[in-house]
Amino acid sequence: MASQNDALPLTTGTDAMMALTSRFAATRRLSLDLVGTLSDADASAQSMPDASPAKWHLAHTTWFFETFVLRDHLPGYRLFDARYPYLFNSYYEAEGPRHARPQRGLLTRPSLDEICVWRAHVDAAVQSALPALPLAAQRLVTLGIHHEQQHQELLLTDVKHLFAQNPLGPAVWEKDAIANEVAQISAASADAGPMRWIKGAEGVVQIGHAGEVFAFDCELPQFSALLTPHALASRPVSNGEWQQFIDDGGYHTPSLWLSDGWAWVQGEDIDAPAYWDGGRQFTLSGWQDIDPAAPVTHISFYEADAFATWAGARLPTEIEWEAAAAALDPASGQQLDAAGPVHPVAAGDGDTDLQQMFGSVWEWTGSAYRPYPGFRAAPGAVGEYNGKFMSGQFVLRGGSCATPRGHCRASYRNFFYPHQRWQFTGVRLAKDL
Ligand SMILES: [Fe+2]
Repeated sequence: MASQNDALPLTTGTDAMMALTSRFAATRRLSLDLVGTLSDADASAQSMPDASPAKWHLAHTTWFFETFVLRDHLPGYRLFDARYPYLFNSYYEAEGPRHARPQRGLLTRPSLDEICVWRAHVDAAVQSALPALPLAAQRLVTLGIHHEQQHQELLLTDVKHLFAQNPLGPAVWEKDAIANEVAQISAASADAGPMRWIKGAEGVVQIGHAGEVFAFDCELPQFSALLTPHALASRPVSNGEWQQFIDDGGYHTPSLWLSDGWAWVQGEDIDAPAYWDGGRQFTLSGWQDIDPAAPVTHISFYEADAFATWAGARLPTEIEWEAAAAALDPASGQQLDAAGPVHPVAAGDGDTDLQQMFGSVWEWTGSAYRPYPGFRAAPGAVGEYNGKFMSGQFVLRGGSCATPRGHCRASYRNFFYPHQRWQFTGVRLAKDL
């Protein structure tokens, strides 16, 4: 099972059940809000194999609850439509064959409306069943909530990628909504402030999840790690600093790049972060001017590493990052609170502490996504959630502006392949002392 500690359902009292029920309803509601401006066509198209249609995200998260909670733990439950599991199973081999991922955009049926009817059916069944569900099933509801939050972020980035392919440059939400979003960020400022070096912890530190709140299995078990003298940058790299890298020929200097990264730059003709074009960048509100003070985003691991080399620094390890974040509030910063055109904003010229560790942009680390000492995947289908992806990917930390608030934590490990950059990915520099 992908979670060891589930704060909400572990306490079987009325308050805990009400909290779980409320969080389930709010999470399911937010997913619908995220597609509120989309047509059936918008929600059905797929722009690349890595991305999925918005409609598919709504359906797949529903399949997760129907399969692992209702089918497996509610005696007598009958599937809403026995054909749907083939369409909306993502990668669970234990659940049998499935529709090919690159062809999800060909699923013009069922319609968005039909998917919403299915969602309502499953929501009602879960809400009705929850109070009497065994503890194992309640834990799966908690897992399903966190799973849906991950898909909410993917839905936003996938829709952004889809709309970016359209020469009309359509907005998912109009710019006025961006102004509202920025206004809600108290730390927002026209000035990123100078980057400072913040000395990190040294010696033995405890890494990995411990405690009573939910965590994915890849954050377990806790273990001891040794940190050598190092420092982390006070904030992520800004767009303005990235422009200096471009102006200095960063994308045309092979000595800055890992061999695989240089091959990627050459092969894909890369010369800027994704969505950049002539001083503008594509956002969920269409094409907008690039804010030089805002954190750079939509960069690959290869780009992050090359920039760090150019800057005379390096990427942090995930252990350095987690040790620095452990004392910070994971619900702080610019994260997703409601449907809208999220986009990273500047840190502001604040104090000397670490800024924007949580939210704004996911931060590439130099650490491979591999199991912690003593890691064990859960038995059964949900054991496929994390462990089988621990090959060839790198860890990102801290969440982004598209991460639902309350989803991330210091021990949270996101992971992507080194060339991928359609998520809100950025970089914070580190150096040895
Ligand atoms: Fe999924």
